[in-house]
Amino acid sequence: MKAFIFDLDGVIVDTAKYHYLAWKRIGEKVGFSLTHDQNESLKGVSRKESLERILDWANVRLSEEEKEALLIEKNEDYLQQIEGMGQEEILPGVLDLLHFAQKNNIPVSLGSASKNATRILKKLAIDHLFNAIVDGNNVTASKPNPEVFLKGAELLKQEPNNCIVFEDAAAGIQAAKAAGMISIGMGGTEEVKAADHCFTSMTAITKEFITTL
Ligand code: BG6
Ligand code: MG
Repeated sequence: MKAFIFDLDGVIVDTAKYHYLAWKRIGEKVGFSLTHDQNESLKGVSRKESLERILDWANVRLSEEEKEALLIEKNEDYLQQIEGMGQEEILPGVLDLLHFAQKNNIPVSLGSASKNATRILKKLAIDHLFNAIVDGNNVTASKPNPEVFLKGAELLKQEPNNCIVFEDAAAGIQAAKAAGMISIGMGGTEEVKAADHCFTSMTAITKEFITTL
């Protein structure tokens, strides 16, 4: 059986709206209005890199200390927004697939750019369904670099070509491809068109489809 590697934001839970609001507020502080499309392109991108891109768009130069302060402020805002998050925010079909994996001894890893990943999995009460967690705290290169997924495969003791990656971001699909893994694009957006297979929701992924993979 293959192994599963799940991205977190946008695959397991829709946190993009919280990230967007927090980045929008940071943008306003430097006189910039972040658009929805710009926010879309930040999906899968690390916190630090996201700030760099926003400052570039805003044409603003800041010192390292000022950037550090904005990164802390952004994360505090984000954490406050997700404070009350619970199981009801898990995207449709995710629990089913995780339970299917557990029943069939399919090893499961998280492969996320977020440094808040473990905290979120605990809030959603699904952390025990993961055999490995690789997130923004244990990678040096962010997606599209394949490091996050290759580390997941290594922890699961699986060959990369035996891993199926569920991703909602263009950078994540590129990373999965660079890792030599099977990519499943989630959300039905333009960004994941390059994936091996695409689904609008996990409820559309049948057990037959997983078995044929
Ligand atoms: C990714 C999100 O999963 O994690 C990005 O798609 C986010 O929007 C990145 O910036 C880093 O997350 P965090 O929680 O460490 O700020
Ligand atoms: Mg994502």
